[in-house]
Amino acid sequence: MKVDKKIFEERRIQAIKPKTAQLLVEQIGHELYNHNLYRTFANYFAVKGLHKLEEYYIARADEEVTHHQWIVDRLNYADVLYKYPEVPAVDTDIKDEEDTFIQTLDKEIETTTLIYNIVETAEKEKDWETVKWLQDTLVDEQTEEEHISRKFLKIARQDTDWVTKEDYILTEYQAGEAADAQTTQ
Ligand SMILES: [Fe+2]
Ligand SMILES: [Fe+2]
Repeated sequence: MKVDKKIFEERRIQAIKPKTAQLLVEQIGHELYNHNLYRTFANYFAVKGLHKLEEYYIARADEEVTHHQWIVDRLNYADVLYKYPEVPAVDTDIKDEEDTFIQTLDKEIETTTLIYNIVETAEKEKDWETVKWLQDTLVDEQTEEEHISRKFLKIARQDTDWVTKEDYILTEYQAGEAADAQTTQ
């Protein structure tokens, strides 16, 4: 097999294919938007006096900063030159406490769909390094993000008061994070 001259020319500059790289840059913006959305929910609960849910959403927002950081690090590692994308303002209405949990789950489902699209694009561009990297990081993470979002929506829908629910949600979330930290050590 003879290596196409174009491959040398492209890979001397950057190690991620152009369409895949472009989608990854856009994903930086989506992850930062998710951060801002979850911080908005944290504010809603702070004002309501449900401070454990404030803490929960601040932690979820922190995770979004981490996801954005993974992408940024990977783009830098692969020598992709880019500028930060625009992040739209959060313009969602919050109907009630439960609504934040529905919006969170839907946002995570949307995020998974966006990431699957990057995987498909990388496959089409035969960018196998990035396919593997995506599977190991963002795809894997979405399995967990969607799972906890479904789990906490079910708790949010229980027929009991919000002080009880927020206590349960924060405790469960923190236990899950601690267990994850153990397995990744
Ligand atoms: Fe994320
Ligand atoms: Fe997570």
